[in-house]
Amino acid sequence: MEHKLADLSNRPLRDLRISVTDRCNFRCRYCMPAEIFGPDFQFLPQESILTYEETVRLARIFVSLGVRKLRITGGEPLLRKGLPSFIRELDRLEGVEDIALTTNGVLLRKYAKELYDAGLKRVSVSLDSLDDRRFRLMNGDRSGVQPVLDGIAAAAEAGLKVKINMVVQKEVNEQDILPMAAYFRDKKLTLRFIEFMDVGNTNGWKLDKVVTKKRILEIIQGWAPVEPLDAHYSGEVAARYRYKGSDEEIGIISSVSDAFCSTCTRARISAEGKLYTCLFASRGHDLRELLRSDRTDTEIGRFIEAVWMARSDRYSEERASSHSSHSPKIEMSHIGG
Ligand code: GTP
Ligand code: 5AD
Ligand code: SF4
Ligand code: SF4
Repeated sequence: MEHKLADLSNRPLRDLRISVTDRCNFRCRYCMPAEIFGPDFQFLPQESILTYEETVRLARIFVSLGVRKLRITGGEPLLRKGLPSFIRELDRLEGVEDIALTTNGVLLRKYAKELYDAGLKRVSVSLDSLDDRRFRLMNGDRSGVQPVLDGIAAAAEAGLKVKINMVVQKEVNEQDILPMAAYFRDKKLTLRFIEFMDVGNTNGWKLDKVVTKKRILEIIQGWAPVEPLDAHYSGEVAARYRYKGSDEEIGIISSVSDAFCSTCTRARISAEGKLYTCLFASRGHDLRELLRSDRTDTEIGRFIEAVWMARSDRYSEERASSHSSHSPKIEMSHIGG
């Protein structure tokens, strides 16, 4: 039976993004700048992170409320031990139609096959440049390009569907748009260009650093004509385009210049078990406390339902208007995008 749960804008709950760690082996400037996330930074202690058993229990409850798609994020999710067995447990949940993972890719060489065998279907791999110097400047000097390309190749070989995510910033990696497009068109992998967003409080976001969807399309069209495609599913984040006369695609994620809140069906849980109803939320709802008390699944489900029914988030649509809030926002490394 289809679940009728909907928020104040009549948006159902369909996707759950699960962060399994707040740690990362990269220090991308737009997400975890090294001067803030340095050697003394206090990451979540192990006891405050949900166990896999707790997370699977939560996922089961979310699925009973209508969730069909699960996405594992971090930080860098592949840093958490035992991830394939966790995915195997998620894959056993009746009602789950899609399990995906968002990663920086360097550990995929090691884990891709195991992840695929456990039931993972898709990965989004972040890669912002094919130029080693610029890539290192962007990721806090943690990796060159080759280990990520090797990870991408390993994922594709293992049978995973692979998409590439490139965050585009003016005067940082704009010049990489066409080399990236050409490289991944040739590899027959979908590259998605992402407008730089004001997530968290530390990434120095400014509107004039955003390369808009319109500008990205102009750059692509000037090189190879593309035509729009319908979304794969209602509420898809990326607008899809196909290179004319071929099956190869690109996507553009335009949270800043062309927001997509009206179809947003995503809930997020942080590694410490807080529920967020928006990527830009200031506060989460503590599910860990409920999990570690004697509440039943039904009681926890009712709590989540009440949170979702009261949901009115549409941050990206409101960003442009003057009354956007100044409360500190959750960091990207806590909810993984
Ligand atoms: P698909 O399932 O392949 O459509 O993946 P996805 O695009 O939903 O997930 P992914 O983790 O690859 O995210 C790509 C980019 O979209 C990241 O920069 C995310 O932060 C951004 N994104 C995903 N969901 C939302 C959202 O609800 N709001 C906003 N503003 N950005 C989002
Ligand atoms: N703006 C846009 N995308 C971002 N990501 C991380 N920080 C930002 C930001 N400030 C992307 C990552 C990854 C995905 C989860 O989110 O590159 O692909
Ligand atoms: Fe790590 Fe991804 Fe954030 Fe980069 S964007 S620091 S790879 S979590
Ligand atoms: Fe959903 Fe918030 Fe993103 Fe809008 S800004 S699409 S409400 S997560």
